[in-house]
Amino acid sequence: MSQQQDFLRDAMRRLNLTRDAFSARLGVRRRALDTWLLPADSSESRSMPEMVERFVAEILQHESRNTDGAASNAPQRPLVQRISAEGKPQLLSVSQFDRDSLEDLFRVVDVMQPVARRQKVTRVLEGAVLGSLFFEASTRTRVSFGSAFCRLGGSVCDTTGFTFSSMAKGESIYDTSRVMSGYVDVLVVRHPEQGSVAEFARATNIPVINAGDGPGEHPSQAILDLYTIQREFSRLGKLVDGTHVAMVGDLKYGRTVHSLIKLLSLYRNLKFTLIAPASLEMPAHLLELVASHGHVIEQTPSLEDGLRGADVVYATRIQKERFAGEEIEGYTPEFQVRKALVDAVCKPDTILMHPLPRDGRPGANDLSVDLNHDPRLAIFRQTDNGIAVRMALFAVLLGVEHQVARSMRDAGWRSPSLVGPDDAVFDGLD
Ligand code: NCD
Repeated sequence: MSQQQDFLRDAMRRLNLTRDAFSARLGVRRRALDTWLLPADSSESRSMPEMVERFVAEILQHESRNTDGAASNAPQRPLVQRISAEGKPQLLSVSQFDRDSLEDLFRVVDVMQPVARRQKVTRVLEGAVLGSLFFEASTRTRVSFGSAFCRLGGSVCDTTGFTFSSMAKGESIYDTSRVMSGYVDVLVVRHPEQGSVAEFARATNIPVINAGDGPGEHPSQAILDLYTIQREFSRLGKLVDGTHVAMVGDLKYGRTVHSLIKLLSLYRNLKFTLIAPASLEMPAHLLELVASHGHVIEQTPSLEDGLRGADVVYATRIQKERFAGEEIEGYTPEFQVRKALVDAVCKPDTILMHPLPRDGRPGANDLSVDLNHDPRLAIFRQTDNGIAVRMALFAVLLGVEHQVARSMRDAGWRSPSLVGPDDAVFDGLD
């Protein structure tokens, strides 16, 4: 059943069709399509007729012939080769992706979902060891990479902070990386300097994943953000093409928005409203890149103006730890994304996102907790999707993505179908 949902979701993604448009193309009622897309354990879920499945497969085949012309029968190079950096299986920047390779990755993410959601287990990475090196604060990125690796059957060795690593004794990035490469099969690295993870990657032939290099990039976060947007949009009947994304907060030092705006630029005709206090605006080179893809960018210090009519609101934390003596002005309580404002200027189907952590201390003016029971708040759907996305990245970089589906067994323990006490608000939406 989850295969049926994955198949239909992937088809809509490839054909770039909303649920309405897809059901019209298939000649079925929208309501029927919705029931085929419901989770298998939902009482309203239905199997799609075999004829529909064959028809969808035919449309996909026809479409790929039309777009690729004569090359359609040529085998695609493996995904790992198409996204490699300098010939190596690494993930340093979202620039390694184009729209096709992203959508191929999302197909692998869909396959991982039953394992990420603890219904199934797989051991495709049995015996493999992940080295996790975090030289900056982290909860979700470090733990979710570790959890994703364990759920594929591997084990994790990690070190956190400079104090407890030999870098405190003056060891270079080159030596650290080379030494670790003899111990583990893949490295996930977070480091406060931009470009530092690429330096780790140059010193090794094992896969390296950038888990955040200072204000540079955070590719896995942006990939899970985009995956979440696509999944939410699929339920809401929207497409990423033509959408309006509002980004709020520290756009200068926030690496998650740097990676996300690059990825979103791969789509067509987007409108970005960028809302940042003076001195924390999006770097000029990224504005140029986005504009060169033909997207519309509006910059404003007014939250009310920037959020009006947005399909996605992506709020971020002020990255005080990266300030080089700047004083931020204008980051007042009027800057806080809170329920009253969202109700006043956003739509019933706007989605509210944040990479987390949100700063809950007085005066922080981060995404407000008064939105916690609002179904538009997608922050925990983002964190949950992070497991499946990181599993997919490991599987692709280590070349086991095709073994996963046939390796799955039922999980031997019981876990709640909804892991959070407020998750029921979203039950059946997906
Ligand atoms: C972000 C980061 O570290 O860049 N967190 C994360 O990984 N989800 C955002 C932040 O720290 O504000």
